[in-house]
This record gives sequence, C-alpha cells and structure tokens, in this order.
Amino acid sequence: DDRVPVPNRTQDRSKPRPAVSGGADAANQDFINTPDTDPSLPANQAWGRSILTRVEDSPLGKAAVADAQVANEEALSAVIETAVSASESWAALSGADRAEILHRAGAVLEDHRADLMEVMASETGKTLDQSDPEVSEAIDFAHYYAERAKDLENVDGARFIPARLTVVTPPWNFPVAIPAGSTLAALAAGSSVIIKPARQSARSGAVMVEALWEAGVPRDVLQMVQLGERELGRQLISDPFVDRVILTGGYETAELFRSFREDLPLLAETSGKNAIIVTPSADFDLAARDVVSSAFGHAGQKCSAASLVILVGSVAKSPRFRNQLVDAVQSLKVGYPVDAVTQMGPIIEPAEGKLLRGLTVLGEGESWLIEPKQLDDSGRLWSPGVRTGVRPGSEYHLTEYFGPILGVMTADTLEEAIALQNQIDYGLTSGLHSLDPAEMDLWLENISAGNLYINRGITGAIVQRQPFGGWKKSAVGAGTKAGGPNYLMGLGQWEPAQASG
Ligand code: ALA
Repeated sequence: DDRVPVPNRTQDRSKPRPAVSGGADAANQDFINTPDTDPSLPANQAWGRSILTRVEDSPLGKAAVADAQVANEEALSAVIETAVSASESWAALSGADRAEILHRAGAVLEDHRADLMEVMASETGKTLDQSDPEVSEAIDFAHYYAERAKDLENVDGARFIPARLTVVTPPWNFPVAIPAGSTLAALAAGSSVIIKPARQSARSGAVMVEALWEAGVPRDVLQMVQLGERELGRQLISDPFVDRVILTGGYETAELFRSFREDLPLLAETSGKNAIIVTPSADFDLAARDVVSSAFGHAGQKCSAASLVILVGSVAKSPRFRNQLVDAVQSLKVGYPVDAVTQMGPIIEPAEGKLLRGLTVLGEGESWLIEPKQLDDSGRLWSPGVRTGVRPGSEYHLTEYFGPILGVMTADTLEEAIALQNQIDYGLTSGLHSLDPAEMDLWLENISAGNLYINRGITGAIVQRQPFGGWKKSAVGAGTKAGGPNYLMGLGQWEPAQASG
C-alpha cells in the first residue's frame, strides 16, 4: 500500500507527537502539510489555556536575545567572519545531509509548538488561533525546503553554488514563520545565515533559532544578532561577504537597504494594499466571513490583509451585504490574548502616525460604518473600524495602514473593480468572491497581484499549495515565491557542470 499517510488532524496536543504529523513522514512521497491544532477537542482547549496562563511575563528567549546583542563594529565583523568560515563545511554537505537536519528541525519545532505560541502571545499579542497555524507553517517550511535541497543536485548540466552568507531580516508580524521560512531556505540551499529578528519580536525569533540549533544546525552556520545602532545595520547589509539579503518588511526598508549598497542581492517581499472584490453572484455568507478574517485577523497587521472590500453592481446598491458585514465585524471579541475568548488582539505598539490617522481621520466623502474606538490607555487596543465611501485615488484607497481598518469601495462593473485594485502601486494579495466562472476568468486575466484567491480569505498562504510572493511594489529585487519549488534556486548561482573524463 503506497498511499500517502494522512496526518492525524484531531491530535490531542497535550500528548506526545504521533508518528505521522506532516511532511516529515512524507519525505519521499507527496508533501503533506502539518495539521493545525483542532480547537474543538476539549484536551486541546485545556492545552491552549495552559499556554495562556504562562503568557504574562514569559521568560522564553530572553537569554538568547541578550547573548545576541552586538555592541560595535569589531563584534559584528567577528560574527560575519565566523559565518563565512562556517559556510564552507555546510555547503560541502550533500543536499540529503542538510535535508536530514532540516526534517529534524521540523520535528523539533513541533515539539516546541506551545513554547512558540507562548512567546508570540507574550511578545506581540498574537492570539492562539493565529499563532498555531504560524507554527504549522514554520514546520512546513522545514520539511518542504529539506526536499528542495535535494532537487538542487539533480539539475542536468548545471552546478549550484550556494550563497556563502545570507542575511535574514524578518518582520514582527509573523515572528516565527517568516524568520523560519527565510532561514530554512538559505540553510537548505547551503548558505550560512545571520538573522536579525525584528526588535519587537526578538524573543520569538530566538526561540525559533534555538529549536534549529537543537535540531543540529551548527551555531556558527546559523547566528542571531541584535543591532542597537543603524550604523551596524548598514555595516551588515553592505558587507561584501553577504551574498543574499532576504527581507520581509516595508517598501521603505528595502529602499534603505538599497541605499546602503547599490548592487545589493536582495530578495524582498514588501508592503501590500489588498482588496477583496464581491460580485452579485457571490455566496455572501462566505464572502462576509472571509472579508472579516482577512481584514481583522491579527488586528489587520499582515502584509496580506484585506484593507479594502470592493462591492460590485447590486451588492453596492443594496444594503444587504454591508449589513451582514457590519454584524460580523461587531460580533468580534476584542481583547488581549490571555483571555481565551479574544478573537482580535491588540496592535503591536500604540497607534501613531499613519495608522492613528487611518483609525481616526476620514477622507472626503467617507463615513464610518463602524467607528474604531481606543479601548484602554495602552493605545494598543482598538475595536475594528469600517469606513465607507472611499473614493478612487484617495489616501485611504492607496495607502497601507497595517491595522484593524477596512474600507468599502463600490464599482458598477467587475472591470471597474479590477481597475480600482490595479490602480494601487502594490500588488501582494487579491481576492474575488464570485460563483460565476466567466467573472473568475475575467478577474484572473486582468488582476495584477502576486497571490490570487477565489472564494477564500486572502491571508494564510500554505506552503507548497500557495507559494507566496509579491508583485509590483510588493517585491523588490530578484525573487520567486516562498514555499514554492523555485525559491532555493535564487539563493545561489548556477554554473555549467564540468564535463567529466
Ligand atoms: N504568508 C502570509 C500570508 O499569506 C503573509 O498571510
């Protein structure tokens, strides 16, 4: 019987990991995504509550972050030298040897699922329903890139020379999955890695890095740094031994990196301003659910989040869908993640600047369907906001806010709705809710975005099934999609294989 084993999706997380738990067991078969925790099992609810009791003042990752402080130029130069000399023996391993360590990393990350969720909640306010799939994604990256490491050796007529040193600069909003994905990809390709976790989520990054060390990734091949000063950042990015920089962050950060070094070999996934279009043929129940989860999951702090919903034709003219949306948004329970009923958590830092403006200031012709309210003195807890009457070309239409706000736009036709999305400089995710195949074809042929979703939410890309990458100003530099078959190929160079004999 050569069927692919089906992972146990109703596993009791408080018990040891079963033999079949995702990609690890599918090494030479079809890839299997790691299952998320089933929250309907009473045992898993108890497991989740046990995580929440530890969240406040969680010490996880603190020691590793303290160790990773790099104080001056000399110290950073030493870190870079270590990485460069370690890269030789790492690159010399076969793809299969590296794959073995990466598969083990997947298993160790699974063993630390609760720790990773605890530190993410403690540090960033992420709710368990958001952090659990994030751990699954990190595990998927480990198993998926492990197998792709072997592919690199099987290309006829060409030899893959990995980058010596890859610098990974991830964001705080996916403080485990994104640093893990970028790091595991570079390691799989045969490069050594220096990772600089985001300031706000350094401990989450540290717990992830410690898991990779525990799995057997050598400490000189994977190093973590915390740089107090911008000048040290410039030194790291512009070091000539750095062969690749994998950035996930704002478009401005990519430009800053480019200003440090003109010929920077950058793979950057940057900002987004993403819309879901709802046509009259849509299943409204499904559309309302997906718009709400895409707009307000992790309080809207995802590059992939829905910041706009564009209502087409009769959906725009009748109040039905708007009312349904308002009901769904108003039913969201807002709070801190330590409270198990919380569905939407806090924002990462007190709202200021652009985000505060988005939460408080209306543009011409706009009105609040639901006005966002600051719920406590922290400045971090806001109820979700929905504005309507957003005009084409307005500030709200074209700006990324990264918070719990959704704007409603209207269009007479699907063509017009597509033009509204395409008018935006960014092109990260985009969604269509429609049950009409002709509408789907029209949208697919004309929309400009890296990641397209029909009748589904537009966040939560899944490794292998939906490789993830930006388009237009949502990507800077060379790059293919993370979690897809070609990602590793961009992490080195190809040269003709030497003729033998
Ligand atoms: N990969 C993340 C998502 O799809 C950003 O939501």
